[in-house]
Amino acid sequence: MTRRGFLTGTVKAVIAAVITGVGAVAAYFMYPAGMRARQPVYCECMEEEALPKKGVKRAEYRFEIKGRQMTASVYIVRHDGGLYALSPVCSHLGCIVNYNRHKNEFICPCHGGKYDEGGNVIAGPPPAPLSRLPLKVEQGRVYIGVMLPQTAAAA
Ligand code: FES
Repeated sequence: MTRRGFLTGTVKAVIAAVITGVGAVAAYFMYPAGMRARQPVYCECMEEEALPKKGVKRAEYRFEIKGRQMTASVYIVRHDGGLYALSPVCSHLGCIVNYNRHKNEFICPCHGGKYDEGGNVIAGPPPAPLSRLPLKVEQGRVYIGVMLPQTAAAA
C-alpha cells in the first residue's frame, strides 16, 4: 500500500465515523421523548388460576385504539421452570404460528418455520426467535405488556 493510499483510506474512515456519530446524535434528538422512553402497556389476559401448570396455553388480551376494541393473542408458556409469554407472530414474514401439542412445537403455516417451546427457531426460514412479551401477575390477574400506539390503551 502506498503512503497516499493509506492516508486517503484513513481520511475516509474518519469522515465515515464522524458522519455515523452525527447521524446517531441527530436521530436521538429527532424522535420525541415519548417515543424514546416508551413503556409497555399491560393488558389483562387471564386469571392467575388459569395459567398453565405445564406446557403452552393460548390466551387473548384486549386493548382499545381510538375507541375500537381490539383483541390479540399470546402464548403463555410454563417450561423448564420458567413462565413466559410468547408473541405468536412469526419472525420471518409475520404470519401467526400455531402450537402443536403432540410435537411441542410452534409451527408457522406460511413457510414451515418451526420454534421450540422456548420460542427458539428449530427449522425453516425464521431469522429470529418468537418475541417474549413482558408478563406480570398482580392480585390474581395475569397481564401482558405490549407496545401499543400512543392513542391506544389497555381495555
Ligand atoms: S412467515 Fe413464518 S415461516 Fe415465513
